[in-house]
Amino acid sequence: MADAVRLDGITKRFPGVVANDDVTLEVERGSVHALLGENGAGKTTLMNVLYGLYQPEEGRVVVDGEEQSFESPGDAIDAGVGMIHQHFMLVDTMTVAENITLGNEPRKWGWLAVDREQARREVRELSERYGFAVEPDARIETVSVGVQQRVEILKALYRGADVLILDEPTAVLTPQEVEELLAVFEELTAAGKTVIFITHKLGEAMEAADEITVLRDGKNVGSVSADDTDREALAELMVGREVLMETDARPSDPGDETLCVDGLTVEDSRGVTVVDGVSFGVRAGEVFGIAGVDGNGQSELVEAITGLREPTAGRVDFEGRDVADWSRIDHIEAGMAYIPEDRQERGLVMDFDLVENGLLGSQHASAFAAGGRIDWDRARDHAEAVVEEYDVRPPDPDARSVSLSGGNQQKFIVGREFERDPSLLVATHPTRGVDIGSTEFINDRLLDLRNAGGAVLLVSSKLDEVQMLSDRLAVMHGGELMAVVDPDDVTEEELGLLMAGEEPSRSLSSLRLAGEES
Ligand SMILES: Nc1ncnc2c1ncn2[C@@H]1O[C@H](COP(=O)(O)OP(=O)(O)O)[C@@H](O)[C@H]1O
Ligand SMILES: [Mg+2]
Repeated sequence: MADAVRLDGITKRFPGVVANDDVTLEVERGSVHALLGENGAGKTTLMNVLYGLYQPEEGRVVVDGEEQSFESPGDAIDAGVGMIHQHFMLVDTMTVAENITLGNEPRKWGWLAVDREQARREVRELSERYGFAVEPDARIETVSVGVQQRVEILKALYRGADVLILDEPTAVLTPQEVEELLAVFEELTAAGKTVIFITHKLGEAMEAADEITVLRDGKNVGSVSADDTDREALAELMVGREVLMETDARPSDPGDETLCVDGLTVEDSRGVTVVDGVSFGVRAGEVFGIAGVDGNGQSELVEAITGLREPTAGRVDFEGRDVADWSRIDHIEAGMAYIPEDRQERGLVMDFDLVENGLLGSQHASAFAAGGRIDWDRARDHAEAVVEEYDVRPPDPDARSVSLSGGNQQKFIVGREFERDPSLLVATHPTRGVDIGSTEFINDRLLDLRNAGGAVLLVSSKLDEVQMLSDRLAVMHGGELMAVVDPDDVTEEELGLLMAGEEPSRSLSSLRLAGEES
């Protein structure tokens, strides 16, 4: 029997980059196939080619044994290929059934009207067939992200998809929702459907996939059966060299509170309260982690702490001083470093070269400014040191930030912030978008800082990472800290429940003890 999908020598170029370089991929019918790779490896591009969004410069697309040249996603859908993108494309104010049937609604009265009853019935049947718990009449805006994702899958199935492509489907999910999604994959393949899912998490690929294809720099560097490989081998394929996967976190020996946040309340730009009376402290010599699904107030909390957003209530004390009236520069000069979530917005000036970007926040510091002037020789030495120590490529201090890849921009920011030798580091998603090797390096520097007596506030949506690095771990949901727990004494399920805003069955009082001063 023909493969469900065969991509043959696909090459897709964008100005200045070969996103897919002669990629061949075979996907067996009825299997789950993971497309694994670092950010920028070319995964989304390849699947957009299969989905008819892009036309490749070279290569063939074969679906179900037939060569295709898709002009648009409409053609791909007609051939039985559906894709669920990272950002869902649902209409919030419409119901589940309306979204699923949108554009293909069953008709009545000789095509004159939409047959809503029929639509609901069909949607109910479809969701029952695959064991999905979705309520046809629920409005999209009232259902969870996990359910919205299932609606997207049902929508593709409703349009007759036999091959389902999902782009980083787990990025927006809690651990429980991830488990549910993997169960959905099993239902789909049991019914003869084929699933291709994109991920950069190798554990997930190992768990969910039958076959794994690794892309690196636009090339297929290996297709392996999940049974015949292991994490180390996959990591090496992804990064192109051997990587050590363990970070050695020694027990912490915390000192006084460096940062004290008390009753902090913050509104977002629309005036909605997104941080609701949050209190916690970060002590010298500890990593305080905040885990959570993105968009639960973490960003605004961090902005209020670092002086980028004014809180509506509450206090932030840094080394015993109220920072309410401080400017951003005051924060930096007092010893608070910050790795921002959005590197292009807050971390770097894209038009500046690395020498200039290395100075950001330090323009007034005595190391670089003598007699009111910037000492450009020292600034250059500084940028060169960061570039070398943090393996920034290209290793050229004159390169403009905009010319660096996202991962290298991130390494430069991380290096610059560590070089400040801060007493408090506020790090949001410090390893997002960097390869596994650099991730390990950044995490080690984080622990070095903590071992040297620095306080670290780590905000991350990578649960395994934040659990491994933190000495105390808080979970944020809906603008509140659900609990502060001992990361060694909490299960992934319990964390997942907290991330979803629910209380684990085990009494939390014992867990909460970890958050109290002894
Ligand atoms: N529409 C586009 N225009 C220009 N370059 C693009 C476009 N889409 C992707 N790229 C580039 O192609 C490469 C592969 O990107 P992508 O397929 O999104 O990777 P992945 O999904 O693996 O993270 C990257 O270098 C990216 O910057
Ligand atoms: Mg992508």
